Amino acid sequence: MERNLEELKRAKIALREQARVVVLTGAGVSKESGVPTFRGKNGLWKEFRAQELATPEAFKRNPALVWEFYEFRRALVSRAVPNPAHVALATLEARVPRFCLITQNVDGLHARAGSKNILELHGNLFRTRCLGCGVLEESFAVPIAQKLPPSCQHCGGLLRPDVVWFGEPLPAGVMNQASEEAGKCEAMLVIGTSGLVFPAAGLPGLAKDAGAFLIEINPESTPLSPMADVCLRGPAASVLPRLLQEP
Ligand code: OAD
Repeated sequence: MERNLEELKRAKIALREQARVVVLTGAGVSKESGVPTFRGKNGLWKEFRAQELATPEAFKRNPALVWEFYEFRRALVSRAVPNPAHVALATLEARVPRFCLITQNVDGLHARAGSKNILELHGNLFRTRCLGCGVLEESFAVPIAQKLPPSCQHCGGLLRPDVVWFGEPLPAGVMNQASEEAGKCEAMLVIGTSGLVFPAAGLPGLAKDAGAFLIEINPESTPLSPMADVCLRGPAASVLPRLLQEP
């Protein structure tokens, strides 16, 4: 406990002193909102087969089935609300001169909590992309259509969720921006990610190489833990509000 308090204090000082802060979040940050993580106990990839539901091949084979999976997740997230971890990050943004929030999450909960400067590396559950005319559109309706898969209201083409699937590259512009931000930050918070999925998992290394102070918040250790200056072990929804508490 005492060691934890000491670590918390070091992290508080680092955050207070640095003008450029980057945050990298993963599924764990939304756990207390009731959104399941992917790996670990009760993880989505324990219950569902990623290869059959989250690849371009799966979508080609059976778009309706893939959409059912995304409809299930869209419905779940629509009922969820941001938790104290999301809220704390929005508060932090308001305090820090240069702040960027990089997320692997597709749930949109950071924006709903009030975060502004967000880079969504893996897309968003509430945006569609038309395979016919390429138009991107937000859609918060659940269900998204009477019949799945939904089709484009402009050209009648097939719509897909605008998320990144296994085997697909990340949107280049967003990833470049994220790398740039990571490479010039002074402190980075790495929250609720297993650190197993690249290229996102490479961002803390970029920050570290640039001399940033690295803080990990996660109840478990991860492959990123050894490079962290401070590891705060616990759920993000309780650790983050304490980290921002003054003094
Ligand atoms: P994972 O499910 O791989 O990891 C979730 C992490 O959150 C684990 O390290 C947990 O220990 C931690 N965790 C659990 N509860 C927590 C809590 N209350 N507070 C803080 N941390 C907690 O999720 P990601 O690392 O986000 O990609 O997964 C990365 C990518 O893999 C996802 O974006 C998704 C997935 O396949 C795509 O779909 C492209």
